Amino acid sequence: MVPNLQSGMENVYVDTSAICYIDGKRGELYYRGYSIDELSRMSTYEEVAYLLWYGRLPRRSELREFRKSLSLERELQEEVYSIMELLPKSVNPMGALRTIVSYLGNLDGEPSVTVEDVYRKGVSVTAKIPTIVASLWNIKNGREPIRPRKDLSHAANFLYMLHGEKPSKDEERAMDVALILYAEHEINASAFAVMTVGSTLSDYYSALVAGIGALKGPLHGGAVEEALRQFMEIGSPERVEEWFWRKLERGERIMGAGHRVYKTYDPRALIFKEYARALGEPELYAVAEKLEELVESHLAKKGVHINVDYWAGIVFHALGIPPELYTTIFAMGRVAGWTAHLAEYLSHNRLIRPRLKYVGEIGRRYVPIEERG
Ligand code: ACO
Repeated sequence: MVPNLQSGMENVYVDTSAICYIDGKRGELYYRGYSIDELSRMSTYEEVAYLLWYGRLPRRSELREFRKSLSLERELQEEVYSIMELLPKSVNPMGALRTIVSYLGNLDGEPSVTVEDVYRKGVSVTAKIPTIVASLWNIKNGREPIRPRKDLSHAANFLYMLHGEKPSKDEERAMDVALILYAEHEINASAFAVMTVGSTLSDYYSALVAGIGALKGPLHGGAVEEALRQFMEIGSPERVEEWFWRKLERGERIMGAGHRVYKTYDPRALIFKEYARALGEPELYAVAEKLEELVESHLAKKGVHINVDYWAGIVFHALGIPPELYTTIFAMGRVAGWTAHLAEYLSHNRLIRPRLKYVGEIGRRYVPIEERG
């Protein structure tokens, strides 16, 4: 038995942090000490990004300046649109986002990774990700990209660029809340990837590309798209029970359920559920509610409960967002958290370099190829 070895690094603390607190038993989440319930009811994505980065809520004038600096950074350089045109039409949007964020790094004359740089670059990349995602989608579908507007909020501007028309107040609010819920979540796989690359003193963009790559996987951010697809595949509430047991018999997983830290209902999922109930297609909502009942009554004993990705897809579907883009929306929100963690870690940086306990052989004799038969 190897001392201190935790499979999947479960419950391993790698550092201290003042950004995010999760109580996985009670189902509580706090950004900089403020509960997610309060933030999702009262705040905006821009204010939450400011809070995550600078550790306190902005004053009115500070928020105005912060919004302005984001709005001034939304437009992409012309050559970025040309690169997007060159990508294969079949490309996965997360793969495409990873490529374009990497390309932005090549356009930045100062690709260093100091604490001061991180916030400046954070504003630029946070502002640009919605433009990249909406433009990728328009280009993929043979349409001209819609250029960002300076007068709209971060959330409204994304929906505007995707659909070509200004969203309603309710749609804007639902999108804003989704970005708040996805903005931060302690040291998950993607934040750890960002911090690991940052710790080598590589550069901001390389760190972010690592985060996007980690988030893309179906066990992390990829689950949001898969969760909606499973409700669509089931089709009607009467089919849920048979589908659920067949899935478990095959040893497959319910997407949008289970979490390494939460051993109860994810508090973000509760908030998404309210929006799904209010805005979602009733049939999809009914399927999801029936499946939720089965997950909560049969999988809770294993510590498996509904997670953030379960209801989010129903909300995005109601906002007219195609499933292929769901994980990119997660990235659009999470860039705030990644940036906060990178800056916090760099302020006392030490190279992240864990160990693997070697269990192979030692001292084997090299046999020349002629003698190996
Ligand atoms: N459906 C069915 N059973 C599950 C599920 C699920 N979604 N998740 C876990 N289990 C079961 C496992 O089969 C295992 O059972 P066993 O002990 O009988 O073998 C037990 O619960 C523990 O599972 P682990 O894989 O050890 O749990 P872990 O903490 O490693 O996994 C994870 C967490 C990866 C999120 C997992 O729950 C999962 O695959 N969920 C589905 C994908 C998903 O929704 N991902 C999004 C996570 S949230 C986020 O990243 C934003």
